[in-house]
Order: sequence, then structure tokens, then C-alpha cells
Amino acid sequence: MRAIVCGAWGKVETLELGELPAPVPKAGEVLIRVHAAGVNYADAIMVGGTYQTKPDFPFSPGLEAAGEIMAVGPGVERARIGERVMAILNHGGFAEQVTARAHEAYPLPQAMDYATAAGFLTAYVSSHVAIRWQGRLEAGESMLVLGAAGGVGLTAVEIGKAMGATVIAGASSAAKLAIAKEHGADHLIDYGRQDLKDEVERLTGGEGVDVCYDPVGGPLFDKALSSLAWGGRILLIGFVAGVPQIPANRLLVKHRAALGSSLRYFRHNRPDQLKASVDELLVWYEAGKLRPLISAQFELARTVEAIRVLTERRVVGKVVVTL
Ligand SMILES: NC(=O)c1ccc[n+]([C@@H]2O[C@H](COP(=O)([O-])OP(=O)(O)OC[C@H]3O[C@@H](n4cnc5c(N)ncnc54)[C@H](OP(=O)(O)O)[C@@H]3O)[C@@H](O)[C@H]2O)c1
Repeated sequence: MRAIVCGAWGKVETLELGELPAPVPKAGEVLIRVHAAGVNYADAIMVGGTYQTKPDFPFSPGLEAAGEIMAVGPGVERARIGERVMAILNHGGFAEQVTARAHEAYPLPQAMDYATAAGFLTAYVSSHVAIRWQGRLEAGESMLVLGAAGGVGLTAVEIGKAMGATVIAGASSAAKLAIAKEHGADHLIDYGRQDLKDEVERLTGGEGVDVCYDPVGGPLFDKALSSLAWGGRILLIGFVAGVPQIPANRLLVKHRAALGSSLRYFRHNRPDQLKASVDELLVWYEAGKLRPLISAQFELARTVEAIRVLTERRVVGKVVVTL
């Protein structure tokens, strides 16, 4: 089958369009004919060899995909051949066929096309898991979202609104903030130009926010931590701008908490909560509360470009590769 092939750890540019043997579904797995695959920051990290999981060479990256079920492995009862699904993958999405664990291949809502579905799961489910189960965001609370026009950030804005919170979106430009506003953000902070802590203070009457959703890290983290209210929770989602250090004294006095959240580990440890997250998200999607933004689509042969627009900070929402 045609696939984007990684044959050694290196830069994204070392990826090539080539051939790999078609995968065979094992017990509990389904085989999917891929129509579209979502692009994630982690694809670049995996190809570089510094991701938490390191597949054997040669492999195809790609952590989520949408398509139709072609075959099922032993013991799979629920799935049907030809069913339209979106799936969370260990890797392998940038290829014509991929296997997924049957319980992580979710039937598509009728109105959802493959490109939208390919970019749905990682972004929305990661954010939902973090905000619902770790952040325990309550209706009426406030949430600050950093990188708010990015792949996961934009979903956090929508999820915060669906849960009844006041959402403050932070991003590095007016254009990115306009997108966050379109997707429901109540207040906007341009942290490329404004001081994050001062603005949060102003917007919350000096109280600070109850939850901060942070997929960025780096120098912004310190200000984000200072922006938390008494009892505030900062959610560690990703470190695109660097891994910050947390001085413990900054947590103690104000009863703050820093909470990690990783979809990749959560899905193995809490499969029931994962399913509850997907179920709630699909209810919200059908009710029109979520409006997934796919801002760019690239053909399989242009996967390197698709990953690069993301790592070079040039996109809003999600990027997908189509087949
Ligand atoms: N924990 C989980 O379960 C989980 C799941 C999915 C993704 N993630 C992680 O979350 C992070 C964001 O992923 P994503 O897919 O949302 O990426 P993305 O679309 O590129 O969004 C990241 C945002 O970070 C901001 N940013 C600040 N400094 C940056 C820099 N030096 N380089 C690139 N972006 C920078 C950008 O917004 P501004 O320009 O507005 O600052 C950008 O929109 C990644 O680390 C990813 O691995 C974690």
C-alpha cells in the first residue's frame, strides 16, 4: 500500500512517500481504508525519535484517521464492514490502510465528512479529558486557554463554553484571536502584545481564573500560573515553547494545582472515561455546540508540508492529509 515512510529518526523532511505492507488486523482490531488522517504536533516529535512511543522501522506516522472498515480481527463483534469510522491510532494514519483497536474506532455522525472526522478525535478528546476529568471545570467558572486558535486550543474554547464556563482566549495575534472569538471565546488576550497576568486580573476583577488550559508552556507558563485564582488548576497539555519548571511554593498558598493530562496514556488507563468523553463530545457535535475547524488539507504526497505548517505556527485549527 502507499504510505508515508519513516525509515530512521530525523527531521520531518526525511519522510518519503513509498510502499509498506498492508497491516493485518489482530484480535480486537479493525482494518480501516483511510480517507483522511489528522496531523498533530506529535507527528514531528515521533519522527524525531523523542516521542513517548517509538515504533519499529519502517513505519508510517499519523495518530488519527477516518475511513471505512475493510476487515475485522478475531473477537470483534460490534464493527461492521463498510462502516464509516474515526479512530485513535498508535501510529500509521498517513497510509492507505491502518489498524485500530476496535473500541477506539467510533462510528461517524451522519453529517460528519472524513476530513472533519480525521481531525476530530485527538484535539477534542484530549481537551475534554483534560478539562472534564482533570480540571473538573464547573459551569460558572472561568477558564483561560493558551494557544487558543491552535489544534487543541480551539477545541478547549468550545468545550469550555459547552460546559457553561466563561472562556478567556489567549493567542499571539489578532487574527488568531478572531478565530477564537468566532468559536465562542468571551474575552481575548493578545499575549504577543499584552501582559497575560495583567489582562487576566483586569478581566476577572483581580480574582484570577479557575482553570488554565496550557498546550504552550515555555515563558508564558509562569504568567499563566500567576493568573490562577485561589483553588485554580493549571492543565499541562503540551510544551511547544519549552518545558517549564514549577516552584512548589507557588502552588501551596493559593491551593493551586498543576495537573498533567495525556490522551495517549489516559486511553490505556481509563477506557470507560475515554468513551464517556467521546459520547459527550458527539452529543455536543450533533447539537451544533462544536464546530471543528479544518483549515488546510494536503494530499498524502504533501504530508511533510502538512506537518510543517503546524510546527511553524502557520495554521489555525486542524490540518488533515487526504487520500
Ligand atoms: N496532552 C495531550 O493529550 C495532547 C493532545 C494533543 C496535543 N497535545 C500537545 O499540545 C500541543 C499543541 O498541539 P496542537 O496540535 O494544538 O498544535 P498547534 O495547532 O500548533 O497549536 C499550538 C499553539 O501554540 C502556540 N505556540 C506558542 N509558541 C509556539 C511555538 N514556539 N511553536 C509552535 N506553536 C507555538 C501557537 O499559538 P500562538 O501563536 O497563538 O501562541 C499555536 O497555535 C503540542 O505540544 C501537542 O503535542 C497534547
